[in-house]
Amino acid sequence: MPRLSTRPILHLIAAARPNFMKVAPLWHALVADGTFDARLVHTGQHYDANMSDAFFRDLGLPEPHHHLGVGSGSHAEQTARVMLAYEPVATAERPAFTVVVGDVNSTVAVTLVCAKLGLRTVHLEAGLRSFDRTMPEEINRLVTDVLADLLWTPSPDGDENLRNEGILAERIERVGNIMLDSYELQRAHIEADGTFRRLGLAPKGYGVVTLHRPSNVDDPAALARLVAALARVAADLPLVFPVHPRTRKNLTEFGLLSRLETAPGVQLCEPVGYVQFMNLVSNAALCITDSGGIQEETTYLDIPCLTLRPNTERPITVTEGTNRLVTPENLVTEAGKALRGDWPHGRRPDRWDGQTAARCVASLKRWLADQPSDQPSDRPSDWPSDRP
Ligand code: UD1
Ligand code: UDP
Repeated sequence: MPRLSTRPILHLIAAARPNFMKVAPLWHALVADGTFDARLVHTGQHYDANMSDAFFRDLGLPEPHHHLGVGSGSHAEQTARVMLAYEPVATAERPAFTVVVGDVNSTVAVTLVCAKLGLRTVHLEAGLRSFDRTMPEEINRLVTDVLADLLWTPSPDGDENLRNEGILAERIERVGNIMLDSYELQRAHIEADGTFRRLGLAPKGYGVVTLHRPSNVDDPAALARLVAALARVAADLPLVFPVHPRTRKNLTEFGLLSRLETAPGVQLCEPVGYVQFMNLVSNAALCITDSGGIQEETTYLDIPCLTLRPNTERPITVTEGTNRLVTPENLVTEAGKALRGDWPHGRRPDRWDGQTAARCVASLKRWLADQPSDQPSDRPSDWPSDRP
């Protein structure tokens, strides 16, 4: 049967907000390179306009080739729905590579499908570990990294974690942090954007807050402690808080939303797109967050980051960067230190340089060139014999 495309098909999987800024630079680099027939697959894990469409627009991503429309659900429901929806797509197109990013439920679901179909999977942002299996993401990271064929890590701790888990060095490649490629691609738009001024904020005169980790926002007592701590910080420093849908739902359900809305100095808003958000972050005095990606972006931008978590899967943002783990109890004191300049400046980790997507494409092309033209019989892949 003649193939429609002589180029190897590559699926790039996008699912949730933090995925889009990891997928976009790789998408653009793959299109510019032209070796692969790259196809974007959106699982639909995040679906609100301000959790998905805004990012496609800001990051210059096209309509996905496939939209699986899985939506929300329990962990089992969501993971299973992604598997059910992706399996026929993967079976029909038999991609030469499927690239999954990050640590969301869709990441592990797609990896499971590919592993069972004998399709090669590449994990972008591999090797991160919080060593806290109460985090759903930690389970997703562990399973994804065991199954994926090629593991692209952002930092040396990632390589070390994988080696400690017995993963062969030949499956590991340190490509750097692709989030920052998105920042560099959008830098001009971010700098020209006037979001912080439109919100009436002064440069370096406010803090940015985001919260969405289940350990912080799903428990009424934990969320109440955080609301009280934020109100105390806001007495000294205006805070802008784009509220994640999980968090808004819980603030409402636990009767905490009006307490936060009426706290002097607190400005709540809906989640904002990437360019607007990075405009807010890059002009802020500090960030208060439990986000993974924001720990990295603040290190890159040399902005104090106060992470409301007992651990982080991104320790390099603490050892080399501007991130510190804090609690609701010491948040006011730590914010005060950051405002007084009593905070480490840190440095940009190696390969957090805006060039990660180029390294990823080079890595894929090396892999492609290294593949034997005959597939082993236990890998039912239709690796194209007409590869470039
Ligand atoms: C997910 C990821 C998390 C990531 C976060 C980024 C998993 C296990 N979790 O968490 O790792 O840090 O995305 O933001 O994959 N909702 C909406 N609209 C949307 C999306 C979600 O209203 O577009 C609401 C729904 O009520 C949903 C809830 O938010 O039930 C949680 O969404 P879900 O994707 O399950 O988890 P997140 O908390 O967003
Ligand atoms: N972000 C955004 N708008 C917001 C909040 C976050 O664009 O209102 C961006 C942020 O800059 C980072 C990414 O979303 O690039 C992080 O996503 P999130 O915190 O949802 O997930 P995590 O990184 O914790 O998995």
